[in-house]
Amino acid sequence: MSATETPSNDTTSSPAALKRLAALEALKEVRSGMKLGLGTGSTAIELVRALGEMVAGGLDVVGVPTSERTAELARSLSIPLSTLDETPELDIAIDGADEIGPDLALVKGGGGALLREKITASAARRFVVIADETKMVDCLGRFPLPIEVVPFGLTVTLRQIREVAGALGLTGNLEMRAGAGGGHYVTDGGHFIVDAHFGRIPRPGELGPALAAVPGVVEHGLFLGMADIAYVAGSTGVQIVRT
Ligand code: 5RP
Repeated sequence: MSATETPSNDTTSSPAALKRLAALEALKEVRSGMKLGLGTGSTAIELVRALGEMVAGGLDVVGVPTSERTAELARSLSIPLSTLDETPELDIAIDGADEIGPDLALVKGGGGALLREKITASAARRFVVIADETKMVDCLGRFPLPIEVVPFGLTVTLRQIREVAGALGLTGNLEMRAGAGGGHYVTDGGHFIVDAHFGRIPRPGELGPALAAVPGVVEHGLFLGMADIAYVAGSTGVQIVRT
């Protein structure tokens, strides 16, 4: 993994300012005519806001949102939108992350949009991650790993997740994510999210396929070998991290 640094002209280093800084750096890659995947979460909100300003200034792009929330914000900013079915090949997908580990291995899904985010990133020629420096880790897993599961047979799915994780030496609480109304959180795709508190995931490359093989698992939040670059903002500027 290599890293270079772009000095910051921004005098504030509030979390929102850092997220915007990372987003602005990533947006330097964007040109008129591009088709863009638009991520979800507080960093992606800064991205969409900044993109909205660029569109208002004449930039001609089409966005494919990774969640209903992102779609709503983008529409409010008059960013032209499409769907992955209408626009199956994207130039760049830009999204946040919950953790950025070695080799740009990511944990994503804290915002509950990991399935659409992963499909969208996989459709892009280039997957660009934006984050503040708190997201950089030496080992994934301190942030609970989001796993999207179907409601049917939940007890069986949870048992099988425990089994495959246990076989890799991973233990920890599997917590059903709560929704705003008090029941389970329901994703845009109508699924539930299990947050797996493993603490450390030293071999994500083994865990990912093992989780994917559980029938009730729709997708997991390990994004491995997908990111091309990360723009990571800190108080001294934006670090550019490549694999
Ligand atoms: C949503 C995600 C987000 O990218 C991730 O949770 C980071 O969010 P934030 O930018 O708010 O820290 O994966 O599903």
